[in-house]
This record gives sequence, C-alpha cells and structure tokens, in this order.
Amino acid sequence: MPAITAAITSVGGYVPEYRLTNAILETMVDTNDEWIKSRTGIDERRILKGEGLATSDMAVPAVLELCQKRGISPLEIDCLICGTVTPDMIFPATANIICDKIGAVNAWGFDLSAACSGFLYSLTTGAALIESGRYKKVVVVGADKMSAIVDYTDRSTCIIFGDGAGAVLLEPSTDENGVLDSVLKSDGSGKNYLHMKAGGSLKPASAETIAAKEHYIFQDGQPVFKAAVKGMADAAYELMQRNNLTGDDIVWLVPHQANKRIIDATAKRMDLPSEKVMLNIQKFGNTTAGTIPLCLWEWEKQLHKGDKIVLAAFGGGFTWGATLVQWAYDSE
Ligand code: UT7
Repeated sequence: MPAITAAITSVGGYVPEYRLTNAILETMVDTNDEWIKSRTGIDERRILKGEGLATSDMAVPAVLELCQKRGISPLEIDCLICGTVTPDMIFPATANIICDKIGAVNAWGFDLSAACSGFLYSLTTGAALIESGRYKKVVVVGADKMSAIVDYTDRSTCIIFGDGAGAVLLEPSTDENGVLDSVLKSDGSGKNYLHMKAGGSLKPASAETIAAKEHYIFQDGQPVFKAAVKGMADAAYELMQRNNLTGDDIVWLVPHQANKRIIDATAKRMDLPSEKVMLNIQKFGNTTAGTIPLCLWEWEKQLHKGDKIVLAAFGGGFTWGATLVQWAYDSE
C-alpha cells in the first residue's frame, strides 16, 4: 500500500480591516517611516479593533473559508490545532472556542504554543495525525492578535507586530503530495531574549505586574535577529540537503514574516531569487503564527500541483524550523 501523506487541500485567511500605518506610528512613538521600512520592510499592519474580539474571531472566518472552498461542512472536521501565543483565554484552548463558534462538534483540538514557529509545529503535528491513518480531516490554524500584548509606547516592538489568521485543511493523499519533511528545533535558553514576563504561573497577574508593564512582549531585538538569520537559514538548508534539493527544485520559499532582512538572508542561503519568495510583511507586519498560512492564502492561485515549497520560521522559545510541502492542487 502506498504511504499516506498529509496533503494541504484548502486554505483560508483573514486580516482585520484597520491599517496601522508607519505614518500613524510616527504620531504614537519616536520613530519614522524610513527607519521602519529599511530595518524591517514593513509599511503597515492590520489591527483587530472592537470590544470583545479575540484571536478566535479571526480564525473563524479563515476556517469557514477553507471549508467553503473545499465544499465541506465543519461537521466533517476531525481535529483542529491552533498555533497561537495570544489565545482568547489562558484556558480553555482557542481551538475549542473556534470549533464551538463554527459548529465543528465532531472535532477535538488543542492549542500549540511555539510563537512564530507555531504554524510549522502545528502543521507537522497535524500531518502526523493524518499519516497515522486515524484522521481524515485535520485543520491547522495559525492565528495571533498581537495587538493584545504589544506595548504601543515601546518603539522597538510596536512597529513590528500585527494581527491576522490563516488556516489549512489536511487530508490523506497517496500520490506523494503533501507535507513531506520537517526540520524542527528549539532552544529554551532563548526565552531570555523574547518573552512575556507575567501572566503565567511564574508571575501571576497582580497590580505590580501591571504597573511594571509585564504583560507585554519583551524583545531584545539584536540577539533574536542574529539567531533568526542563522536558525531559519540553517534549517532550510538542512531540509534541502537531506531531500537532495537545490534552489532550482524549489518553486517558492514561504518564510515567516518577521523582518525582510532575515527573509533575504534565508533566500540567499537557499540560492533562491527574490521572485521565488513570498513576501507580504509590508502589508501585514509580523502576525506571529499567522504569517505563513497568510502567505499560502494570498499566493494560493499561483501554486500548482506538484510544486515543491519550503516553509521556514524562527521565533520565541527559541523555536525554529523548515518544512517541505509538495502542493496538492491547482486552485482554478
Ligand atoms: O518573529 C519573532 C522573532 N523576532 C524577530 O525575528 C525580530 C528580530 N529582530 C529584528 O528584526 C530587529 O532587531 C529589530 C527590527 C527589532 C530592530 O532592528 P535593529 O536593526 O536590530 O535595531 P536595534 O535594536 O539595534 O536599534 C538600532 C537603533 C537604536 O538606536 P541607537 O542606540 O543606535 O541610538 C534604537 O534605539 O535604532 C533605534 N530604534 C529605533 N529608531 C527608530 C529602535 N527602534 C526604533 C524605531 N524607530 N522604531
């Protein structure tokens, strides 16, 4: 019997309407458009505005879109994994909330916390469930409402992050298309450079933690940048080596959108021209777990059956990695 692979068979995405431009940020903190563009590649990011709206409210339209495109009902979903670091609540899992909102009453699910690598980790986990033969429809979501944990008086972080969600459907395939291989890594000592100090069991929320602004993202940008350039490029290179691939074999690099300079360095190491690199950081900024599925959502029509694409990410944890996917369908 041919081996089962987990094919991506549909994609959905959602970004909020509100555009937080560099010009608006100039009125909020001591920054300027030229600095932001040249250091990060970002022009604007989308922000989820409105009382009572959370990460699940972006994931829901993304998942409903992929169901509609594939012609399936949410009732058919077996499992939903949500990569996020901005869950609606500490518990229950946002995956459970998404399933409730879309009526996926036959699904089980869980959240996976791997920061900017959240989608890659979740995709690899979801693919293993499909490969086991026990599950036929697994939805993998990458979604983050970063504006909920960004300090809009801290110019070193508020210029980077945005809100958004993307999702893919995984189904069994026997024609060798799908998630073919992953190189995934982590190094917990990286927590010192990128974390949220309070709100967990180490430092529960208190008047003091709020006064000290410890419920926001802390990032020491330079060490994260250095580790990201090396980590993302090394993982992608290792993946290519062990699958005997050269830059010519790869149709697209789908990189996490944290900083255009990190993306350029990864593409260079993979020997890929810029035309083969999906880039939407200028429009959406860094949506953490959302970046990679949002790229797949935007580029879906340009992806063709049999295309080899490499997804690569680096983020808090540290977590990082690269995944090789052979695309399973032509969207037209
Ligand atoms: O996705 C999760 C993983 N995260 C990442 O991959 C992010 C990795 N890090 C980065 O992308 C970059 O480190 C940043 C974009 C965060 C910062 O860029 P940088 O080139 O590393 O700048 P820097 O932190 O070294 O700061 C350079 C200068 C400093 O001024 P002085 O000390 O040289 O006078 C900063 O105070 O730029 C200043 N600066 C700013 N100036 C204008 C920092 N933020 C800003 C700002 N506007 N927003």
